[in-house]
Amino acid sequence: MSLSVALDIDPGIDDALAVALALRSSEIRLELVTTVAGNGPLEMTTRNALRVLHYLGAGHVPVAPGAPSPLSKPFHGALEYHGSDALADLDLPEAQKEPDPRPAHQLLFEFASAAPGERVVVATGPLTNIAIAFQRYPEMPTLLRELVIMGGAFGLTGYGTGNHTPVAEFNIWQDPEAAAIVFGSGARIAVVGLDVSNDPSTALDSTNLAKLRAGVTPFSRLAADLTGYAVARHSVCALHDPLALAVVLDRSLFGFAEGRVTVHTAGDEQQGRTILLAGAQEDSAIPLTAVAAAVEGARFKKLFLSRILED
Ligand code: RIB
Ligand code: CA
Repeated sequence: MSLSVALDIDPGIDDALAVALALRSSEIRLELVTTVAGNGPLEMTTRNALRVLHYLGAGHVPVAPGAPSPLSKPFHGALEYHGSDALADLDLPEAQKEPDPRPAHQLLFEFASAAPGERVVVATGPLTNIAIAFQRYPEMPTLLRELVIMGGAFGLTGYGTGNHTPVAEFNIWQDPEAAAIVFGSGARIAVVGLDVSNDPSTALDSTNLAKLRAGVTPFSRLAADLTGYAVARHSVCALHDPLALAVVLDRSLFGFAEGRVTVHTAGDEQQGRTILLAGAQEDSAIPLTAVAAAVEGARFKKLFLSRILED
């Protein structure tokens, strides 16, 4: 029986690659996509989610737009990395459908409450939608089997430093208030931070790109175009978001440290800094957060490439 998964995303090159991986993974069934302002403005990330699903033959998956801006910090974006359309300037064909008229937080709650304790949300953008859903529906955190987050930099490896500032990872930096709400919600949470997703062994290089370019499906074509854009500018294509999804696909790829996660929310030079207070917790009713501290990068890339290249 495959696991029902919802993706909360801000596509975004690596978000789009995570959607492709999700659609090629038989362990899970992608049932919902919600979008958030992050790598690009909300209308851009929503349009990109619709176009990617359409291009990959998954136009049946509902797409619900969420928050157009962080809870309180100003919207910033990351078009300088992801391209002027936030999707490697690919200009994919437009989807043949509109976004769902219902808001992301409502559909996320309905997704979770349809099968209490059985479903997983993977959040690979700023956590604004998740925080709004948890505030609007206080029972939602405990309805989820797990919430997997791409975000944070915890200093657990040499790669665990910031990418938007020296101390903060972009998703958390963009909406630290939302992150603090989510990490304090009592949900069962697993986190993939830059500690593992900036590990060079997890990024696609020019050799991997050549393999993708030899592929013959829309999945390999899209992955080759997205990867090619990043490799041309940065020598590699980081797979932050596919790595977060991989926690659901094969948890044995990772080693985890457990504890409480704190987030610096003030709008100063520490904004978005995440700290893992490892070890015992004061309230055993609240699950500890599992933060990825190690990854088998080569085995992860093999999983990613084999599924994307499958005919
Ligand atoms: O810091 C990397 C994260 O920020 C990734 O999820 C990327 O897509 C951006 O959202
Ligand atoms: Ca993302």
